[in-house]
Amino acid sequence: MILVTTTGKVGSEASRLLAKRGVPVRVLAHHPSKVAALAEAGVDVVEGDLDVPESIDVAMQGVSSVVLVSPAIPVQEFNVIESAMQAGGAGVGMQNFLMLARAVASSGSFASCTETTYWPTGPERLSYADAARVLSNVLGREISFRPITCEEQKQAMIDAGLPEVVADDNAKALTLFADGDADYVTDDVPGLLGRPARSFEQFVTDFAVTFS
Ligand SMILES: NC(=O)c1ccc[n+]([C@@H]2O[C@H](COP(=O)([O-])OP(=O)(O)OC[C@H]3O[C@@H](n4cnc5c(N)ncnc54)[C@H](OP(=O)(O)O)[C@@H]3O)[C@@H](O)[C@H]2O)c1
Repeated sequence: MILVTTTGKVGSEASRLLAKRGVPVRVLAHHPSKVAALAEAGVDVVEGDLDVPESIDVAMQGVSSVVLVSPAIPVQEFNVIESAMQAGGAGVGMQNFLMLARAVASSGSFASCTETTYWPTGPERLSYADAARVLSNVLGREISFRPITCEEQKQAMIDAGLPEVVADDNAKALTLFADGDADYVTDDVPGLLGRPARSFEQFVTDFAVTFS
Protein backbone atom coordinates (compact mmCIF):
# COMPACT_ATOMS: atom_id res chain seq x y z
CA MET A 1 0.00 0.00 0.00
CA ILE A 2 1.29 3.45 -0.94
CA LEU A 3 0.31 6.39 1.27
CA VAL A 4 0.00 9.86 -0.24
CA THR A 5 -0.02 12.47 2.52
CA THR A 6 -2.22 15.31 1.21
CA THR A 7 -5.12 15.75 -1.19
CA GLY A 8 -4.22 19.01 -2.96
CA LYS A 9 -3.23 19.35 -6.59
CA VAL A 10 -0.14 17.12 -6.36
CA GLY A 11 -1.45 14.52 -3.89
CA SER A 12 -4.80 14.09 -5.66
CA GLU A 13 -3.24 13.59 -9.06
CA ALA A 14 -0.60 11.18 -7.70
CA SER A 15 -3.31 9.13 -5.94
CA ARG A 16 -5.58 9.13 -8.97
CA LEU A 17 -2.79 7.96 -11.30
CA LEU A 18 -1.69 5.19 -8.92
CA ALA A 19 -5.28 3.95 -8.50
CA LYS A 20 -5.75 4.04 -12.28
CA ARG A 21 -2.76 1.71 -12.62
CA GLY A 22 -4.26 -0.69 -10.08
CA VAL A 23 -1.70 0.14 -7.38
CA PRO A 24 -3.19 -0.02 -3.84
CA VAL A 25 -3.13 3.60 -2.69
CA ARG A 26 -4.36 5.43 0.39
CA VAL A 27 -4.54 9.16 0.86
CA LEU A 28 -4.49 11.08 4.13
CA ALA A 29 -7.22 13.66 3.77
CA HIS A 30 -7.55 16.75 5.96
CA HIS A 31 -11.15 17.07 4.76
CA PRO A 32 -12.40 13.78 3.20
CA SER A 33 -15.60 15.46 1.97
CA LYS A 34 -13.49 17.44 -0.53
CA VAL A 35 -12.16 14.29 -2.20
CA ALA A 36 -15.19 12.09 -2.79
CA ALA A 37 -14.01 11.71 -6.39
CA LEU A 38 -10.81 10.02 -5.22
CA ALA A 39 -12.78 7.48 -3.17
CA GLU A 40 -14.89 6.78 -6.25
CA ALA A 41 -11.66 6.27 -8.25
CA GLY A 42 -10.63 3.48 -5.85
CA VAL A 43 -8.35 5.43 -3.51
CA ASP A 44 -8.61 4.49 0.17
CA VAL A 45 -9.38 7.87 1.78
CA VAL A 46 -8.43 8.14 5.47
CA GLU A 47 -9.12 11.26 7.52
CA GLY A 48 -6.01 12.73 9.14
CA ASP A 49 -4.14 15.85 10.13
CA LEU A 50 -0.40 16.23 9.60
CA ASP A 51 -0.28 18.15 12.90
CA VAL A 52 -1.72 15.13 14.74
CA PRO A 53 0.84 12.27 14.75
CA GLU A 54 -1.70 9.70 15.98
CA SER A 55 -3.84 10.26 12.89
CA ILE A 56 -0.79 9.73 10.65
CA ASP A 57 -0.02 6.48 12.50
CA VAL A 58 -3.54 5.23 11.67
CA ALA A 59 -3.10 6.08 7.97
CA MET A 60 0.37 4.45 7.99
CA GLN A 61 -0.91 0.96 8.88
CA GLY A 62 0.06 -1.59 6.22
CA VAL A 63 1.94 1.01 4.18
CA SER A 64 5.23 0.16 2.43
CA SER A 65 5.92 3.46 0.64
CA VAL A 66 4.99 7.07 1.30
CA VAL A 67 4.66 9.89 -1.19
CA LEU A 68 5.30 12.82 1.13
CA VAL A 69 3.47 15.86 -0.21
CA SER A 70 3.01 18.54 2.42
CA PRO A 71 2.18 22.23 2.68
CA ALA A 72 5.98 22.69 3.19
CA ILE A 73 5.74 22.89 6.98
CA PRO A 74 8.80 21.03 8.35
CA VAL A 75 7.17 19.82 11.60
CA GLN A 76 4.42 18.14 9.56
CA GLU A 77 7.01 16.45 7.34
CA PHE A 78 8.94 15.19 10.38
CA ASN A 79 5.66 13.82 11.79
CA VAL A 80 5.24 11.72 8.63
CA ILE A 81 8.86 10.53 8.64
CA GLU A 82 8.67 9.60 12.33
CA SER A 83 5.47 7.66 11.73
CA ALA A 84 6.97 5.85 8.71
CA MET A 85 10.06 4.89 10.71
CA GLN A 86 7.96 3.61 13.61
CA ALA A 87 5.86 1.59 11.20
CA GLY A 88 8.94 -0.32 10.13
CA GLY A 89 10.66 2.03 7.74
CA ALA A 90 8.18 2.65 4.95
CA GLY A 91 10.17 4.34 2.20
CA VAL A 92 9.42 8.05 1.97
CA GLY A 93 9.50 9.56 -1.49
CA MET A 94 9.55 13.21 -2.66
CA GLN A 95 11.10 15.83 -0.40
CA ASN A 96 13.21 12.91 0.91
CA PHE A 97 16.20 15.11 1.57
CA LEU A 98 14.42 15.72 4.87
CA MET A 99 15.53 12.21 5.80
CA LEU A 100 19.00 13.75 6.13
CA ALA A 101 17.85 16.77 8.14
CA ARG A 102 18.80 15.31 11.52
CA ALA A 103 22.34 14.55 10.32
CA VAL A 104 22.67 18.02 8.83
CA ALA A 105 21.40 19.65 12.03
CA SER A 106 23.58 17.64 14.41
CA SER A 107 26.81 17.13 12.46
CA GLY A 108 26.80 19.77 9.74
CA SER A 109 27.28 17.00 7.17
CA PHE A 110 25.47 14.15 5.47
CA ALA A 111 26.50 11.02 3.64
CA SER A 112 25.24 9.52 0.42
CA CYS A 113 26.52 7.05 -2.15
CA THR A 114 25.16 9.14 -4.99
CA GLU A 115 26.62 12.30 -6.43
CA THR A 116 24.15 12.56 -9.29
CA THR A 117 21.72 15.48 -9.33
CA TYR A 118 19.11 15.76 -12.06
CA TRP A 119 17.73 19.09 -13.22
CA PRO A 120 14.57 18.05 -15.08
CA THR A 121 12.99 20.82 -17.18
CA GLY A 122 10.48 21.21 -19.95
CA PRO A 123 11.69 21.40 -23.55
CA GLU A 124 11.76 25.20 -23.79
CA ARG A 125 12.43 28.34 -21.77
CA LEU A 126 9.25 30.33 -21.13
CA SER A 127 8.56 33.63 -19.42
CA TYR A 128 5.15 34.20 -17.83
CA ALA A 129 4.35 36.48 -20.80
CA ASP A 130 5.17 33.51 -23.07
CA ALA A 131 2.91 31.31 -20.92
CA ALA A 132 0.07 33.83 -21.32
CA ARG A 133 0.55 33.71 -25.12
CA VAL A 134 0.41 29.89 -25.13
CA LEU A 135 -2.71 29.94 -22.93
CA SER A 136 -4.34 32.48 -25.28
CA ASN A 137 -3.52 30.45 -28.39
CA VAL A 138 -4.68 27.11 -27.00
CA LEU A 139 -7.79 28.39 -25.22
CA GLY A 140 -8.78 30.69 -28.07
CA ARG A 141 -9.31 33.77 -25.91
CA GLU A 142 -7.06 36.54 -24.58
CA ILE A 143 -5.27 35.54 -21.37
CA SER A 144 -3.06 38.26 -19.87
CA PHE A 145 -0.22 38.11 -17.36
CA ARG A 146 -0.38 40.71 -14.58
CA PRO A 147 3.02 41.27 -12.91
CA ILE A 148 2.73 41.83 -9.14
CA THR A 149 5.29 42.59 -6.43
CA CYS A 150 6.81 40.03 -4.08
CA GLU A 151 4.78 41.59 -1.22
CA GLU A 152 1.54 41.27 -3.21
CA GLN A 153 2.42 37.65 -4.06
CA LYS A 154 3.04 36.94 -0.37
CA GLN A 155 -0.24 38.60 0.66
CA ALA A 156 -2.17 36.59 -1.96
CA MET A 157 -0.80 33.35 -0.47
CA ILE A 158 -1.66 34.50 3.08
CA ASP A 159 -5.18 35.38 1.88
CA ALA A 160 -5.39 31.86 0.41
CA GLY A 161 -4.62 30.44 3.86
CA LEU A 162 -0.87 29.79 3.91
CA PRO A 163 1.02 30.46 7.15
CA GLU A 164 2.96 33.76 6.86
CA VAL A 165 6.37 32.09 7.11
CA VAL A 166 5.54 29.66 4.26
CA ALA A 167 4.06 32.48 2.13
CA ASP A 168 7.22 34.54 2.70
CA ASP A 169 9.50 31.64 1.65
CA ASN A 170 7.42 30.81 -1.42
CA ALA A 171 7.21 34.45 -2.54
CA LYS A 172 10.98 34.80 -2.21
CA ALA A 173 11.47 31.57 -4.17
CA LEU A 174 9.28 32.98 -6.95
CA THR A 175 11.39 36.13 -7.17
CA LEU A 176 14.31 33.87 -8.09
CA PHE A 177 12.46 33.16 -11.35
CA ALA A 178 12.61 36.89 -12.09
CA ASP A 179 16.37 36.76 -11.50
CA GLY A 180 16.70 34.03 -14.14
CA ASP A 181 17.11 31.17 -11.69
CA ALA A 182 14.94 28.82 -13.81
CA ASP A 183 16.13 30.14 -17.17
CA TYR A 184 17.62 26.94 -18.55
CA VAL A 185 16.71 23.74 -20.39
CA THR A 186 18.33 20.35 -19.78
CA ASP A 187 18.14 16.95 -21.48
CA ASP A 188 17.46 15.14 -18.21
CA VAL A 189 13.81 14.29 -18.96
CA PRO A 190 14.47 12.72 -22.41
CA GLY A 191 17.63 11.10 -21.02
CA LEU A 192 15.74 9.44 -18.16
CA LEU A 193 12.41 8.69 -19.85
CA GLY A 194 13.50 8.03 -23.42
CA ARG A 195 10.94 10.50 -24.77
CA PRO A 196 10.85 14.30 -25.13
CA ALA A 197 9.70 16.40 -22.19
CA ARG A 198 6.09 17.53 -22.61
CA SER A 199 5.73 21.11 -23.81
CA PHE A 200 3.71 23.73 -21.91
CA GLU A 201 1.46 23.94 -24.97
CA GLN A 202 0.73 20.21 -24.70
CA PHE A 203 0.09 20.55 -20.96
CA VAL A 204 -2.42 23.39 -21.53
CA THR A 205 -4.06 21.39 -24.34
CA ASP A 206 -4.42 18.37 -22.04
CA PHE A 207 -5.89 20.51 -19.27
CA ALA A 208 -7.88 22.96 -21.43
CA VAL A 209 -11.10 22.04 -19.63
CA THR A 210 -9.54 22.90 -16.27
CA PHE A 211 -8.38 26.29 -17.57
CA SER A 212 -11.85 26.96 -18.98
N1 LIG B 1 1.66 22.35 -7.43
C1 LIG B 1 2.87 22.64 -7.83
O1 LIG B 1 3.12 22.85 -9.03
C2 LIG B 1 4.03 22.72 -6.86
C3 LIG B 1 5.28 23.13 -7.33
C4 LIG B 1 6.34 23.19 -6.44
C5 LIG B 1 6.16 22.83 -5.12
N2 LIG B 1 4.95 22.46 -4.68
C6 LIG B 1 4.82 22.09 -3.27
O2 LIG B 1 4.19 20.82 -3.16
C7 LIG B 1 3.37 20.79 -2.01
C8 LIG B 1 1.94 20.42 -2.38
O3 LIG B 1 1.49 21.28 -3.42
P1 LIG B 1 -0.01 21.28 -3.94
O4 LIG B 1 -0.03 22.19 -5.11
O5 LIG B 1 -0.54 19.89 -4.04
O6 LIG B 1 -0.74 22.00 -2.69
P2 LIG B 1 -2.29 22.35 -2.51
O7 LIG B 1 -3.08 22.07 -3.74
O8 LIG B 1 -2.33 23.71 -1.93
O9 LIG B 1 -2.75 21.29 -1.42
C9 LIG B 1 -2.34 21.35 -0.08
C10 LIG B 1 -3.02 20.20 0.61
O10 LIG B 1 -2.53 20.10 1.94
C11 LIG B 1 -3.64 19.76 2.76
N3 LIG B 1 -3.35 20.13 4.14
C12 LIG B 1 -3.14 21.36 4.66
N4 LIG B 1 -2.90 21.28 5.98
C13 LIG B 1 -3.00 19.96 6.31
C14 LIG B 1 -2.88 19.24 7.52
N5 LIG B 1 -2.60 19.86 8.67
N6 LIG B 1 -3.04 17.90 7.49
C15 LIG B 1 -3.31 17.25 6.33
N7 LIG B 1 -3.44 17.87 5.13
C16 LIG B 1 -3.28 19.23 5.13
C17 LIG B 1 -4.79 20.55 2.17
O11 LIG B 1 -6.02 19.98 2.57
P3 LIG B 1 -7.31 20.92 2.84
O12 LIG B 1 -7.41 21.85 1.66
O13 LIG B 1 -8.45 19.97 2.93
O14 LIG B 1 -7.02 21.64 4.13
C18 LIG B 1 -4.54 20.33 0.68
O15 LIG B 1 -5.13 19.12 0.25
C19 LIG B 1 3.48 22.20 -1.40
O16 LIG B 1 4.47 22.17 -0.40
C20 LIG B 1 3.92 23.06 -2.54
O17 LIG B 1 4.61 24.20 -2.09
C21 LIG B 1 3.87 22.39 -5.52
